[in-house]
Amino acid sequence: MTQTHLPHLNLLAPAAGGSASAAIAEPTSATALPHPGTTPEAASHAQPTRLLMCAPTAYALKYEINPWMSLQNTPDVDLAAAQWQALYRVLTEEVSAVVELVPQAPECPDMVFTANAGLVRGRYVMLSNFRHPQRQVEEPHFRAWFESHGYKVQSPSVGCKFEGEGDALFAGDMLLAGYLKRSDICAHRWLSEMLAVPVLSLELIDDRWYHLDTCLFPLTPDTVVYYPGAFDPYARVVIANNFHTIEVCQEEALRFACNAVVIGAHVVLPAGCPQLTQELESRGYIVHSVNLSEFLKAGGAAKCLTLFLR
Ligand code: ARG
Repeated sequence: MTQTHLPHLNLLAPAAGGSASAAIAEPTSATALPHPGTTPEAASHAQPTRLLMCAPTAYALKYEINPWMSLQNTPDVDLAAAQWQALYRVLTEEVSAVVELVPQAPECPDMVFTANAGLVRGRYVMLSNFRHPQRQVEEPHFRAWFESHGYKVQSPSVGCKFEGEGDALFAGDMLLAGYLKRSDICAHRWLSEMLAVPVLSLELIDDRWYHLDTCLFPLTPDTVVYYPGAFDPYARVVIANNFHTIEVCQEEALRFACNAVVIGAHVVLPAGCPQLTQELESRGYIVHSVNLSEFLKAGGAAKCLTLFLR
């Protein structure tokens, strides 16, 4: 392939406080995977959105790998099951998504967070390479599920960490990708080359918002909702130069307001985010709030519990 250019986007525009250092993983002339042929937007009009979820049959808090997790504050597993069912019901009945299920492996207490399985584009899945050994045990289970469902699985190189849709979100055909806390920036070049998409690399600076999907979600191809405090100054410049933005306040960002699932005019949010709800409703969105308190204890909410199967 040749280089992918989006001439109308000024990815490296210098601005106050920002340097013009490499803020994107530039697409290079590697062999790209064949394009799936349908953009996510086009697909969403043609057929229902498909998601991958994992019912919490073995969900537990057994280790601490992010600041939200404390062995002194473990989830109530029955309540977690009820909250997961409520999310599943909203997604399947109120939003009309088609949800596929992967069984939870007993030795993988965090496997419910399917957003971290990989990044799906057409029949390809860019499989995760988890940073923490505690989650690396999930990889073979997700790989097996994808392979048995006809996906072509690609893995990053051994030393290159990547945590799937937790750190990589499409806004139209542009991939927004987080790095430093869980995924490495080398994964961005791999994604850009393999998928032949432009990638905007965004550095995460606060351990509480350790995945991109904890602090940003694309609302449309040209609008993102985000919490600026989670990003380094240059990432904020890159976001502002490329998108219309809706800022989330810290109070709601701490309740994972940015961990939302957007499907057409529907936005599924964790409970306790009235300001963002009002903002979205004023723009005509239908907001569904789901109490996911037991998953917040592990550092996850609505988006973390779902993976787009595009
Ligand atoms: N306990 C999990 C971890 O720390 C939570 C993952 C949340 N997933 C997400 N996409 N943000 O890895």
